[in-house]
Amino acid sequence: MNTPSSLPAFARLRRLRRTDALRRLVRQNALSADRMILPIFVSEVDAARVEIPSMPGVYRWPVEEVGEVVAEADKAGLGGVLLFGIPALKDTRGSEASATGGVVQRAIRGIRDSGYEGVVVSDVCLCEYTDHGHCGIIDDEGTVLNDVTLKRLAETALSHARAGADIVAPSAMMDGQVAAIRRALDENDLGQTAVLSYSAKYASGYYGPFRDAADGAPQFGDRRSHQMDPANAYEAERELDADVREGADLLMVKPGLAYLDIVRRARVAHPNVPLAAYNVSGEYSMVKAAAERGWLDERAVVLETLLSFLRAGADLVITYHALDAARWLAEAAGSASGGHP
Ligand code: PBG
Ligand code: ZN
Repeated sequence: MNTPSSLPAFARLRRLRRTDALRRLVRQNALSADRMILPIFVSEVDAARVEIPSMPGVYRWPVEEVGEVVAEADKAGLGGVLLFGIPALKDTRGSEASATGGVVQRAIRGIRDSGYEGVVVSDVCLCEYTDHGHCGIIDDEGTVLNDVTLKRLAETALSHARAGADIVAPSAMMDGQVAAIRRALDENDLGQTAVLSYSAKYASGYYGPFRDAADGAPQFGDRRSHQMDPANAYEAERELDADVREGADLLMVKPGLAYLDIVRRARVAHPNVPLAAYNVSGEYSMVKAAAERGWLDERAVVLETLLSFLRAGADLVITYHALDAARWLAEAAGSASGGHP
């Protein structure tokens, strides 16, 4: 240990941090483009792409133009894209969510036809499609009804799968949503479509910018009757267990950064199920706002944050930073290998 005899024994952990080569040799986690999924907003109400004010660099894309950003994702080698829809028509039951000619369904078909090689994931919820902005069917008192909503979620997932989604991702936090969707898929010869469950989704203030982007804020009340209480940790394990039993192929914890303990808990409780962390809109906006003011080094902070999800135990990260992060990783790889292609 070479501790000077005048000092108590101590470990020289700096030995393996001395050079970049040593640091690379013992590095435990590495971010890569194929572990990242880019969320994309597809819109029926915009004639051209529109930047989301609270999310600089993120756009609402008309169906006809969404191919542009998907092509970028493809070129960057991202693992996949996650689609959200902004429909022209909203009603009490969110009819457009499951329409064959709906905004997401059309986008999925277009992406499939374009020969996109990444994974196509679709968000399954009703809040962007209901006029009241809730994630399900409501009664006269405004309570979100669980079991009638399951039927709508299953129909929606089915329509996405028929359009060609590889993975459907229910985000409504209705009990039994994975079972309902799995059954509908299996009964309709869509046994190959996977389910990524937003298992442990908390009632979070970090979704604010998303609700502007997707025009899906509840018109009254909030989502605390179905999304998890931020105070609770053990309960996340019950949510995750239930989804595994119901047939989820992948699990998710959301938001990411304020819930890294839950990511770790999910990894430990389900070591053999792929796990996603969702680096949500508010987390994105905070970094962008600070970086714009010169208060943070955007690249350093983004790469460090994304890596922290992997370190906590996630296998993949859903993030609005995906295209930037992939570019930064490619630049770093280029300079590390002496500029070889
Ligand atoms: C819809 C949904 C939301 C998000 C993903 N799916 C919003 C919400 O639940 O209010 C949030 C994503 C983000 O903030 O980036 N249920
Ligand atoms: Zn919702």
